[in-house]
Amino acid sequence: MRLLVTGGAGFIGSNFVRQALRRSRQVEILVLDLLTYAGNLENLAPVADLPTFRFSRVDIRDAAAVRDAFRSFRPEAVVHFAAESHVDRSIHSPAEFVSTNVTGTGVLLEAAREWPVGRFLHVSTDEVYGSIPAPHAADEERPLSPSNPYSASKAGADLLVSAYAKTHSLPVLITRASNNYGPYQFPEKLIPLMITNALADKPLPVYGDGLQERDWLHVHDHCRAIEAVLAAGRAGETYNIGGECSMQNIEVVRRVLDCCRKPASLIEYVPDRPGHDRRYALDSKKVKSDTGWEPSTSFDSGLWETVRWFRDNPEWSARVHSGEYRTFHDLNYSQRGEFPSV
Ligand SMILES: NC(=O)c1ccc[n+]([C@@H]2O[C@H](COP(=O)([O-])OP(=O)(O)OC[C@H]3O[C@@H](n4cnc5c(N)ncnc54)[C@H](O)[C@@H]3O)[C@@H](O)[C@H]2O)c1
Repeated sequence: MRLLVTGGAGFIGSNFVRQALRRSRQVEILVLDLLTYAGNLENLAPVADLPTFRFSRVDIRDAAAVRDAFRSFRPEAVVHFAAESHVDRSIHSPAEFVSTNVTGTGVLLEAAREWPVGRFLHVSTDEVYGSIPAPHAADEERPLSPSNPYSASKAGADLLVSAYAKTHSLPVLITRASNNYGPYQFPEKLIPLMITNALADKPLPVYGDGLQERDWLHVHDHCRAIEAVLAAGRAGETYNIGGECSMQNIEVVRRVLDCCRKPASLIEYVPDRPGHDRRYALDSKKVKSDTGWEPSTSFDSGLWETVRWFRDNPEWSARVHSGEYRTFHDLNYSQRGEFPSV
């Protein structure tokens, strides 16, 4: 199976690529990634020398480069992770979110129409449903009601993907996952930010009253779900992927402090983010019944493992902040000198 993976140098994408290549020698992957501040080739170093892996630095908004990649690689399936993904940044700089998340998705859809693929899986988020009042959980039929430029741009992309299924019969799948955590997550998102600050004895900034509720999904469970949907999902369908672990932000922060053996006095309440959704909750029955997938990592063990990873890899956090390692040559990983790209 030839898989074209966008955003494969980011957090979830790189976990997916490493997992998929380790699991099967039949999978051949081409990663397209612009290597923004969030993309880091070091995340792909463990698979960089596999003959089944290729990388090309491409902006998904660049139609000519995307078409070239499709023409030369002829993917059988696409898994589309590439996005601007941080809500706070979207409030300050929405333009990049609209262009990458909406226009970039449109460019990929056009390429997939020109060089037909068996599956086009678009990775989306539970944030497109907006805040869900307790005790309800959003199923896939719930109307989209995004609250910030990030979730609005993801909702726009979701609608574009669905439109290509209706207009062009493109075999699309959409997955909407809840909050991910795990190794290799850029330390601006809640859990890695809290872990890296706690380990450095810095204050842990908590928005508002900290009572916002999120569902937490370990990234390895998310990647397994994407593989399951790719293999067994019904074309044209959307699948929610929740971790069945609902928790208030302040409780997450307390557990991080416990794992890091640091005092609660490090918690610092800061003014709430504008448009901050109060609660996300997903109904994931459909992905379970259609694919048999279930989340398997408990929050406690997943958090311990994540804290351990950040503790054991302090230089990784330092390097992603400094923006080092933009080429495999910098990494000295490929024995072939220049890493093969299309
Ligand atoms: N992190 C979460 O909790 C979460 C939850 C649900 C869904 N998602 C979705 O999963 C996907 C991946 O999220 P993540 O947390 O790994 O994000 P990330 O920010 O860690 O990685 C995004 C990747 O996309 C690349 N990229 C950005 N703009 C690009 C462009 N114009 N062209 C090519 N590449 C570009 C970046 O270089 C980076 O490697 C996103 O679509 C996000 O909306 C994330």
